[in-house]
Amino acid sequence: MDLYEYQARDLFEKYEVPVLAGIIADTPEEVKAAAEKIGGVVVVKAQVKTGGRGKAGGVKVAKTPDEAYEAAKQILGLDIKGHVVKRVMVAQGADIASEFYFSVLLDRANRSYLSLCSVEGGMEIEQLAVEKPEALARVEVDPLTGIDKAKAVEIAQAANFPEDLVDKVSDVFVKLFDVYKGEDATLVEVNPLVLTGAGDVIALDGKVSLDDNASEVRHPEHEELEDKGAADPLEAKAKESGLNYVKLDGQVGIIGNGAGLVMSTLDVTAYAGEKHGGVKPANFLDIGGGANAQVMASGLDVILGDPQVKSVFVNVFGGITSCVAVAEGIVKALEILGDAATKPLVVRLDGNQVDEGRAILAEANHPLVTLAAGMDEGADKAAELANA
Ligand SMILES: Nc1ncnc2c1ncn2[C@@H]1O[C@H](COP(=O)(O)OP(=O)(O)OP(=O)(O)O)[C@@H](O)[C@H]1O
Ligand SMILES: [Mg+2]
Repeated sequence: MDLYEYQARDLFEKYEVPVLAGIIADTPEEVKAAAEKIGGVVVVKAQVKTGGRGKAGGVKVAKTPDEAYEAAKQILGLDIKGHVVKRVMVAQGADIASEFYFSVLLDRANRSYLSLCSVEGGMEIEQLAVEKPEALARVEVDPLTGIDKAKAVEIAQAANFPEDLVDKVSDVFVKLFDVYKGEDATLVEVNPLVLTGAGDVIALDGKVSLDDNASEVRHPEHEELEDKGAADPLEAKAKESGLNYVKLDGQVGIIGNGAGLVMSTLDVTAYAGEKHGGVKPANFLDIGGGANAQVMASGLDVILGDPQVKSVFVNVFGGITSCVAVAEGIVKALEILGDAATKPLVVRLDGNQVDEGRAILAEANHPLVTLAAGMDEGADKAAELANA
């Protein structure tokens, strides 16, 4: 589970990571009151689970409570990469002298932890990694010893912190690792970690991902961090139908069976989209093994409910559930949805009883459905339709 910035901030505070005052607010009036309470310059920050908030106009400095009120009016309701801002955090303004980057994360490939750190923070880390890889230190962290003071100093030195700052920032790294370990996180990222004019090192932004596998047994309290109410309405709807759905930012709706196949379908579709106006996948949706008509209908219903979706790519490999059942599922789903089905569907079937399955779809000859022979062809067609 990914946390909101304000939740990360609260966890940081619990572990004595230096943070500034922050108050959450859902209306401009609440923002004004929060700004009065904090006093001085504040920063109104969109609380959405996506990056690049600042660039999208979701982070605004306000010198007075009235300015904070105006900023809130602009930020609340703003759409940031498909996430509508419903809540902001009013943060105490920092007097920033320099911005740094620090993260610690689970490095699955190496079965280890990894710390990334740079004395050049602020800008997007993906961009830094490409444009100035030498400025980004990558330090392996042994899970058994974690980031103790010695390791923290090693990280700070690898990231080229000036000698007189190493002691101070390394103390903060140790505390951030306490958060990572204590909460069973898979990511703790601070961008920017700042040095203030007064010489303090403070975490100004925080991204924390918690390991859901640890939550039930080791951290029952994490359940409170889940925001059921504020969840994306489509994601909530999918969850109700027992579907494994994640909303993404593109135009091509995706349905597949099995997480691996769906992931590859996202890749292939994104690749195909490069030739068709840069369209991208609109979601991850795994309908799992039992793709009957009702599951297919629920899946299509969720995807077609996304106004960004322009076409849908159904990519199913028949296994235990044969292509016949899937094809019948699609036909019945379109019947169930009736007029609610309005966007073109590209269907690629393969595997168990593929010929019979295709025959069913060919026979039904639904005006919205196009059959594709292979995965690449299907992705290309779906991307083309999304761009039409
Ligand atoms: N409390 C604050 N006081 C002063 N400046 C701030 C404060 N919070 C953020 N800023 C400034 O705004 C910039 C962007 O803020 P922040 O890192 O929180 O959002 P972002 O990077 O745009 O979003 P994301 O991290 O989600 O991509 C920071 O680099 C910093 O310069
Ligand atoms: Mg940031």
